[in-house]
Amino acid sequence: MPPAVRDRFADAPFLRACRGEAAAHKPVWFMRQAGRALPEYRALREKAGMFEMIRTPELAVEATLQPVRRYGVDAAILFSDIVVPVEAIGIRIELKPGVGPVIDQPFRTAADVERLRPIEPEADIPYVIETVRALVGELDVPLIGFAGAPFTVASYLVEGGPSRDHARTKALMHEDPATWHALVDALADMALATLRAQVEAGASAIQLFDSWAGALNPDDYRQHVLPASSRIFAGLADLGVPRIHFGVATGELLPLLAEAGADVVGVDWRVPLRAARSRVPAGVALQGNLDPAICLADWPVVEAEARKVLASNGEHPGHVFNLGHGVLPDTDPDTLARLVELVHSSP
Ligand code: CP3
Repeated sequence: MPPAVRDRFADAPFLRACRGEAAAHKPVWFMRQAGRALPEYRALREKAGMFEMIRTPELAVEATLQPVRRYGVDAAILFSDIVVPVEAIGIRIELKPGVGPVIDQPFRTAADVERLRPIEPEADIPYVIETVRALVGELDVPLIGFAGAPFTVASYLVEGGPSRDHARTKALMHEDPATWHALVDALADMALATLRAQVEAGASAIQLFDSWAGALNPDDYRQHVLPASSRIFAGLADLGVPRIHFGVATGELLPLLAEAGADVVGVDWRVPLRAARSRVPAGVALQGNLDPAICLADWPVVEAEARKVLASNGEHPGHVFNLGHGVLPDTDPDTLARLVELVHSSP
């Protein structure tokens, strides 16, 4: 990160909480804060497809800034997607509205892994770097860079699209561990390169999204996923930015998400923060964990449930308020704006 950016955000509440330090107010941001819940986002999307928006820095900057303006959140998250790096090196992927990433030719064999080559961010995703640079010039809150974790990206490549049971992915992992490890190692190299490039361009923190890791039991996670994800965290250590590790339904994996090398562990709504705290080492901060479905209810319900999250954290300074997963498209933006006010005014 350029020193000027580091100095500008040295006392930003989001970064202080990530480091476990007391802050001027409790920080909050929302996973998928950019997106269809915002009418101004839907207006942008009428003009361009997802990949087109991501490849056009002017549009990606605007989509990143929209929720910051509207909600007053304490961090921005780069507008991109976890499949952008693999698409950029030639894997044919579509982002289907209402569905998610769909892969033209799913990965099934060792020969498929050969279709992945190392990514060179300056050459392969120059638009992402340009977007990050433009954003840090404009933002008055820190920017979070991100990548998809090897397991979650591998699941899309192997299944060919979203999956409930991740059955083919698990079958490959157990049946042909050599191919599996080659696959997750290649994806780890790509995630590491893209995350380093984002931080070098000015991102103040990173989040590794292993959204679907909760499909695994702890033994399988430790043996078949943790080594690759750990390599990503270790490869970022010298940059000195907070590293957030997130997945859904990861109650049994929380200690392992921390062990992989995270400074902050994301918690979904299934585990109260108080319990999550006991599953990670002291010194690891938590992020979460209001159920995004709650945000579709009337304000008194949202307020009561948000207060439960705050109470479950207690006075611990190492807490970044967030939802337990992404903002649902039917969420009323006013609810999220009120939620930010509530979190900011909490003791
Ligand atoms: O605001 C932000 O969070 C920043 C941008 C962001 C997007 N995708 C934009 C997007 C981020 C951080 C992601 C990460 C991502 N992408 C994840 C990890 C986070 C998570 O939710 O667990 C995953 C699993 C994906 C894969 C993916 N891409 C899905 C499941 C979808 C949604 C499909 C749908 O339409 O419901 C996408 C597309 C996508 N990525 C959208 C956005 C705003 C919606 C696209 C649209 O406008 O049509």
